[in-house]
Amino acid sequence: MPADRKALMGIDVGTSGVKVVVIDREGRTIGQATVGYDVSQPKPLFAEQDPEDWWQATCSAIRLALARSDRRGEEIVAVGLTGQMHSLVLLDEAGAVIRPAILWSDQRTEEECAYLRDTVGLERMIEWVANPALTNFTAVKLLWVRRHEPENYARIRRVLLPKDFIRYRLTGEYASDVSDASGTLWFDVKRRRWSDEMLTALDVPSTWLPEVYESPEISGRVTEWAAERTALCPGTPVAAGGGDQAAGAVGNGIVRTGLVSSTIGTSGVVFAHADEIVRDEQGRLHTFCHAVPGKWHVMAVTQSAGGSLQWFRNQFADAERAVAAQTGRDVYDVLSDEARRVPAGCEGLVFLPYLMGERTPHLDPLAKGVFFGITPRHTRAHFVRAIMEGVAFSLRDGLALMEDLNLPVEEIRVSGGGAKSGVWREIQAGVFGRPVVAIEANEGPAFGAAILASVAAGMFDDVVTAVDAWVRAEDTAQPVAEDVDVYRQAYQTYRALYPALKPLFRAAPSREHAQ
Ligand code: XUL
Repeated sequence: MPADRKALMGIDVGTSGVKVVVIDREGRTIGQATVGYDVSQPKPLFAEQDPEDWWQATCSAIRLALARSDRRGEEIVAVGLTGQMHSLVLLDEAGAVIRPAILWSDQRTEEECAYLRDTVGLERMIEWVANPALTNFTAVKLLWVRRHEPENYARIRRVLLPKDFIRYRLTGEYASDVSDASGTLWFDVKRRRWSDEMLTALDVPSTWLPEVYESPEISGRVTEWAAERTALCPGTPVAAGGGDQAAGAVGNGIVRTGLVSSTIGTSGVVFAHADEIVRDEQGRLHTFCHAVPGKWHVMAVTQSAGGSLQWFRNQFADAERAVAAQTGRDVYDVLSDEARRVPAGCEGLVFLPYLMGERTPHLDPLAKGVFFGITPRHTRAHFVRAIMEGVAFSLRDGLALMEDLNLPVEEIRVSGGGAKSGVWREIQAGVFGRPVVAIEANEGPAFGAAILASVAAGMFDDVVTAVDAWVRAEDTAQPVAEDVDVYRQAYQTYRALYPALKPLFRAAPSREHAQ
């Protein structure tokens, strides 16, 4: 095979679909495919998916991406995996899925979190696993199954994360990586191994957990069985990979102190690289292992970032959908054009993006979405822009916490679906009061997973060298001075709204429906 036909593959098992990218030896994307699936919400606060849907979508997306990049399975020298973090996949003795996966965004586990706070306590959790009990993390989802579905619990032999389920199907191996494992709440983030203390406290057998690797290590090889279903070649090495945030950060080049990314996908994340472990004693930020071996990261998470705009698009954007259909444009581009026509600050309309509760900085699964300050002046376009601004305010909250912990913020890089919108990039620059840099290959976590695969394949000595060779800045949005002042004022209103509304959120009906 001619060397220049060799390529890498990155697979991202996301919340709205599986994305597969094929990258050439220069780090350019030569083909990509996304195959979607739905989130099921059988009750308020619940969010579930069938892992079988992920696998079917993965098989189709791999075939499509290979065809679009004009590559055959034999030309893929290594595969890297990434995916939605925290979501709980349960397998029985035979490796079959026991129940639908309980997703990261699911908020049913408030009582399990309270139980851990009361029994283990915040201080010991920060010491053992560097993070507090949050509704999103895997451990509390497992405790919920133990309490509510004992018959399912009794059948459990393996507990996996989404990308690791796909690895199991691809390679037959039960394995994970340090960055994704960090989001389970039973991983010793400091020592980069499962936490015996936490597993004992939870009474969860360590035999249920997979082997853990550093992200660029080889975790297994594609089996004959998987090769038949995916068109990959048997024996192709599969890198351990990373959680979508760590892998996305690698794709954005966030592999040195001072570099911070702001990513708007379904969730929104502010992510900072750290050479040493940095823990927030109050647990407001997540402290996880990075996909760069021996390094860590800190991140702040907005539960519903792009998810808020997606909700608006689904419920209220028939007109924009019609325009998009007529003109052959993406409906999000049409929505972005509308947002651009509204002045910064939305003439007093403020949005809280807490549709799925909120993590950073409030750690409150019962928070709700809010539009505040509606007057007859406000048009639908104001609502679109207010959503974009509200998400940026929430990310600003995350940056503020990082500044609180004295983490240096020298450059902010924007990524995710939200960074495709010029106006949303400008809003971020204005709200952060700093320039924001976009990266050329905006393929997100899947690109980062392919970079990890390139190291696993021996093309580069390490992740930082690979990033230096392949990650290029494309465009910088500068903050506009007058807008910065307007945003500063609007941010004050935004900050005041949550404490004022908190008691009402707790009284809202979704709480008893969650039981
Ligand atoms: C990170 C998180 C989300 C999911 C979904 O902590 O919960 O970003 O990984 O993408």
